[in-house]
Amino acid sequence: MVLSIFREEATKGMRLVNRQAMAAVLVVGVAVVVAMALPARAQAPGPEYANEKLCQACHKVVHGQSPAVTDNYLATKHATITGEGPRYNFNGQPGVGCQACHGPGTEHVKAPMDQKLATGKTPAELETREQKLSLCGRCHGQYDEGFVADYKLGDNILDKITLKAPTGGKLEQLNEMKDSKHFTSPTGPVCIDCHTGHKALDPNLVPQLVAPINDLCLKCHPANAGMAHLTPLTQIPDGATCATCHMPNKKHIFKVARQ
Ligand code: HEC
Ligand code: HEC
Ligand code: HEC
Ligand code: HEC
Ligand code: HEC
Ligand code: HEC
Repeated sequence: MVLSIFREEATKGMRLVNRQAMAAVLVVGVAVVVAMALPARAQAPGPEYANEKLCQACHKVVHGQSPAVTDNYLATKHATITGEGPRYNFNGQPGVGCQACHGPGTEHVKAPMDQKLATGKTPAELETREQKLSLCGRCHGQYDEGFVADYKLGDNILDKITLKAPTGGKLEQLNEMKDSKHFTSPTGPVCIDCHTGHKALDPNLVPQLVAPINDLCLKCHPANAGMAHLTPLTQIPDGATCATCHMPNKKHIFKVARQ
């Protein structure tokens, strides 16, 4: 009895997988036709970079242990932002595409199905905090050297760039962090400790936060729970979070702004 239920579940699972596989093949087919019909881009991507539409088409559905990410991704600012220059038009394609964070994908696109998992690299797999800060900081930082164009996933650019003093611009999070212990401490947080690429997007967790603000901080600062580090005389604004005092105007200074 129990066994037959399992068998039934398994068959259902198989059917689901088949349906998903077929759906994927269909979307990819359509995407390829669309891609071929598109006029040549003004700034063609290098051969190691695939057309972003291919990534979006395949990852619209679940594959093995990989969740469907495309719809979440399309809801992020990265997918919709417009502007001038390589920070806004990744690799000649509009917006900040999958490959800006996952690296060049032609090899992965061409790989046989049983090698897809091994060829798909994620930022979470990067080993060092310098590598992780470099990935996002390349665009979310302003430095004397201009934009690091010859970056490859896994590079550490922190030793090669001179960060400017922050000016209040939108892409300066690395500059904002530079003078805090979060930047210098080997156990300090990196961007993807607090922000996701596209997972678990929640309208209450803008901008792409992985958890409510206080939860993010208390993971590493449990002693500060309940604002315990503040004297009873401290004025705590209504609805204050850790960011109210330590990230004024959403700036990543992780200190208390001094007037
Ligand atoms: C032909 C369909 C197809 C295309 C096109 C495709 N992928 Fe994949 N991708 C897969 C499959 C299948 C897997 C493996 C899933 C598994 O076995 O869990 C995968 C895995 C991945 C992973 C690894 C996930 C993990 O959990 O480690 C990443 C990252 C990824 N793809 C990103 C991309 C990017 C970026 C592009 C565009 C350059 C792209 N994919 C294009 C089918 C595709
Ligand atoms: C801003 C950077 C960024 C962009 C752009 C991005 N990703 Fe990701 N992706 C990540 C990060 C970071 C992770 C690790 C999990 C997380 O924090 O979301 C990840 C994880 C994944 C995974 C593994 C499954 C998971 O959720 O852990 C797949 C598959 C994937 N991304 C595919 C894509 C595809 C396809 C696109 C474009 C449609 C894309 N990503 C765009 C940063 C990005
Ligand atoms: C190729 C350049 C590029 C890369 C790489 C990149 N970003 Fe961005 N990101 C942008 C641009 C451009 C914007 C839009 C800024 C604006 O509002 O003008 C943006 C916006 C954002 C936002 C704001 C979203 C909102 O809703 O306001 C977050 C959060 C973010 N990025 C996090 C990350 C993280 C984390 C990484 C690394 C995993 C990353 N980005 C990698 C270019 C990039
Ligand atoms: C310790 C957690 C933490 C780390 C590390 C972190 N952020 Fe943030 N970030 C936040 C929080 C929280 C907010 C929202 C603050 C608020 O709403 O008051 C935010 C806001 C943002 C915004 C939107 C800013 C705006 O003005 O709208 C961007 C873009 C961003 N972060 C990118 C990054 C990048 C890139 C990195 C790495 C260089 C990074 N963050 C590191 C927690 C973090
Ligand atoms: C991954 C762990 C981690 C997370 C997440 C984290 N911190 Fe920290 N934080 C640290 C470490 C490590 C230090 C440095 C401690 C030291 O050297 O004394 C630090 C130091 C600080 C300092 C003192 C900074 C200075 O320059 O003196 C403040 C303020 C702070 N964190 C606030 C926050 C806030 C607010 C958040 C949430 C938005 C947060 N932290 C999230 C690990 C973390
Ligand atoms: C009302 C403003 C305010 C709020 C809200 C606040 N802090 Fe602080 N925090 C301070 C002040 C003031 C200091 C003293 C250090 C200084 O002067 O830079 C401090 C210091 C710290 C430090 C460094 C030294 C220490 O005593 O641990 C950490 C870490 C920290 N806060 C984390 C947090 C976390 C986590 C939250 C949210 C649960 C939070 N703070 C909420 C004002 C605030």
